[in-house]
This record gives sequence, structure tokens and C-alpha cells, in this order.
Amino acid sequence: MAEPRVVPCSGKRDEKYEPIVFREFFGNSHPVELEIGCGKGKFLVARAIGNPGTNFLGIDRVSKFMNIGKTRAQKRALPNIRFLRAEGKAFLTEAIALGSVSLFHIYFPDPWPKRRHQVRRVFTSELLVLLHARLVPGGLVEIATDDKDYFVAMKKTIAATVELWENVCETVNERILDGMNKTSYELKWAAEGRPLFYAELKKR
Ligand SMILES: C[S@@+](CC[C@H](N)C(=O)[O-])C[C@H]1O[C@@H](n2cnc3c(N)ncnc32)[C@H](O)[C@@H]1O
Repeated sequence: MAEPRVVPCSGKRDEKYEPIVFREFFGNSHPVELEIGCGKGKFLVARAIGNPGTNFLGIDRVSKFMNIGKTRAQKRALPNIRFLRAEGKAFLTEAIALGSVSLFHIYFPDPWPKRRHQVRRVFTSELLVLLHARLVPGGLVEIATDDKDYFVAMKKTIAATVELWENVCETVNERILDGMNKTSYELKWAAEGRPLFYAELKKR
């Protein structure tokens, strides 16, 4: 399985990401879906099984749980899915070509509820600008969270970039895309009866 070289460098971060050419990385020109913060990769593996004509890339900054997804995919010899340990924004900036991704999945990102920790949140207007530039025309961003305050903040962030999106829709307790497959956190929070908030952005 070909993986881009991770090159140590000095400075704040200890990793630099090589640009990925999806045609070489996956060995074909199928559309690519990318999940940021994929955790155990449960959703992405199920989606890869159900969509053999699409390529899937899961990234997470922690490899421990992601390796569970990697093992699941390897056991099934799935040709259309890869996992990489990477930090979302830096990886998008350095490794992902403009106009190359058909769909981004961002499910249950860490909510960082304490005000002083909220700067650590991954869902920012900077992220949305990065995603928008890397989507194909008409590409989608799918979002979910169980944290109402975070969802309110997400909607403010989306409103701040509204000119980028042709269409924005939101639901509660109802997946917008692929209701058949759920993430690990989605199943956990649904079992606890928490309300789940979803949004979908379509690139203008
Ligand atoms: C609450 S878990 C959700 C996992 C999965 N999406 C799910 O729904 O089951 C959040 C995940 O995001 C990852 N994560 C947090 N910040 C990240 C970042 N900046 N870049 C990549 N992954 C990140 C964490 O390591 C963790 O696996």
C-alpha cells in the first residue's frame, strides 16, 4: 500500500506532508472522499465496501484507534481505502491538491466545550476555506456533532463563509448522507439518546 513519505522538520509541528497525487496513490481516477478525524474508521470502511467505484482516505492525528480501521480494511483486502496519520489543516494545505476531493466527512470532531480550549476546535472558517478549495465543483462537506453549542458555533462559521456554498442544509437525528452507515461516536451518542446535529454544504 503506497503511502506518502512523512518528513520530519523543525518548528512547531514535527511533520511535513508530501503532496499526494490521487491517481498514483489509489492507482485509478475514481472520485475521492476524505474523512478528517476518522477515529476507528468504522464509517469509512463500511462506505468503502458499499462504494467500490469511489476511493476513500481517512486521516486522524492519532494512529491508535485508526489502526483498527486499517486492520479491518486489510482483512477484507479493500482496494479503495487508505488511512494516514495526519493533522487535518496541515495535511489539507500541504498534501491535497485543489479541486481533487468529491466529498469531505467531518463527524463528531472533539467539541472542546471549555471556552479557553475552543481554539483547539478543528471546525473553523480557515478549515472551510481549505475544504472549499480542495473540493471538485459541486462537491460536498458532511458534518455531524452531538454538541449543540459546537453546532451553533459551526453554523456561525458556515454563515461567515456563506458565499462559498451553493446550498447548506441541516437536520437533527437524521443523517443527510448514507443513513445506512454510522460512525462509532454516532452509534454511542445515539444509544445514549443524545440529539445529533447534521449539516451538509455544497460547493458553489
Ligand atoms: C470524537 S472523535 C470522533 C471519531 C469519529 N469521527 C467518530 O465519529 O467516531 C474525534 C477524532 O478526531 C481526531 N482529531 C482531532 N483533532 C484532529 C485534527 N486536528 N486532525 C486530525 N484528526 C483530529 C481525534 O484524534 C479523534 O480520533
